[in-house]
Amino acid sequence: MDGLSRRDMLRAGGALGALGALGIAAPAQARSAWTWSPTGSVAGAGAGADPRWVWDEEADPLVASLLDRGDVPMVNNLLRTWTKNGQPLPAGLPADLRDFMERARQLPPWAEPGKLATAVDFNEKRGLYLGLLYGLASGMMSTVIPKEARAVYYSQGGADMKDRISKTAKLGYDIGARDAYQPGGEMVVTCVKTRLVHAAVRHLLPQSPHWPAVADEEIPISQRDMMVTWHSLPTTVMRKMTDWKIPIPQRESVAFLHSWQVSAHMLGIKDEYIPATWQEANSQADEVLDPILAPTPEGVKLADILLNLGATVDGGILSKPILGAVTRFMLGDQIAGWLDIDREPLWDSLLDVAWEPFIAVREGLLPLPLAPKAYWLFDEFLRKAALLFLSEAKPISIEIPDTNRPE
Ligand code: HEM
Repeated sequence: MDGLSRRDMLRAGGALGALGALGIAAPAQARSAWTWSPTGSVAGAGAGADPRWVWDEEADPLVASLLDRGDVPMVNNLLRTWTKNGQPLPAGLPADLRDFMERARQLPPWAEPGKLATAVDFNEKRGLYLGLLYGLASGMMSTVIPKEARAVYYSQGGADMKDRISKTAKLGYDIGARDAYQPGGEMVVTCVKTRLVHAAVRHLLPQSPHWPAVADEEIPISQRDMMVTWHSLPTTVMRKMTDWKIPIPQRESVAFLHSWQVSAHMLGIKDEYIPATWQEANSQADEVLDPILAPTPEGVKLADILLNLGATVDGGILSKPILGAVTRFMLGDQIAGWLDIDREPLWDSLLDVAWEPFIAVREGLLPLPLAPKAYWLFDEFLRKAALLFLSEAKPISIEIPDTNRPE
């Protein structure tokens, strides 16, 4: 960082962003210029600075200070009891953290309760596809997003991927729950805690002895990176559903996007970077997601751990080939090749032949009066079972890390 401290760097973010946008003084990985216009965002306006140089100016210094003060274990202990959106914050939190969290838990003024309610209808009908897509399209895609794969591998959670995945899966579960953003739901809590986790990672990873050798940046998880990962979630899911010819009414598709726009805001992404429409989301993803996908040694190791997750149940005999085949089916041969996923003639051809007819039958039955509720029950059972398996039936608590991956 040539003598620049981390805080100087954060402060300088705006100015560097402007340089980045002009393609000047940007390190190798940031060379693709940021041309996406803030007029296409939920804010409708903005400076247009490259989010490669923007992090989280509120949460980052706060969590760095909690880490420096040694307060993180105490804070984690207290926050374990804070699980529902409507619940007051636990007593005893440091005043600066409490102030921040009270602000951070507010939904954005542009959140529309009607759209969030329609998103619930959508999740109710399409829970099965959503669960599969979050897990195997978005989850596996994260292993070929180089900056994310490295950050995950060298951070504390990288040493226990099953635990880490259960926590990430919790976000996918919470956003799809009936009361996601309501007082009885958990999505606000999950987002605010995740925002704190990301701020901690920004402070900790630069201290990892591995970081300078593997990363071409000092501070990870920029707002640009956040949007890349965001696109690996809703944008990728919607692209796949469209490929699979799932007939989604316009208002449900808009509502699904809205539930993810709100989550982006709650995770600390600035409104000027959050796409307002699917068209804008796709154009931003074309610019920031598609060109950066690539294999890394860390990502290949993470993908292998993911594919072996079922091994505790069946020794991997059935689960690994099926998970591999579904990954190939969803993400294509190139990504499967990068991740050293074997071809599975039986499962590969079964998916090619049977998946779209399966969808057609399921969608064809959807108009039957009880079908959405029956699908919801079945899908909810599968989603809960997957979470229970991943968490080993322990409560899932997202905690602020206070170290990197142990050596
Ligand atoms: C932690 C979701 C973007 C790296 C987490 C957690 C969630 C999450 C739910 C908590 C799980 C845990 O504590 O293990 C998201 C979402 C994102 C996003 C929804 C974007 C919309 C990113 C990006 C990076 C990243 C862009 C890196 C470039 C990490 C790391 C952890 C983490 C290293 C901490 C793991 C640990 O505890 O060591 N994220 N994330 N995330 N995330 Fe993200």
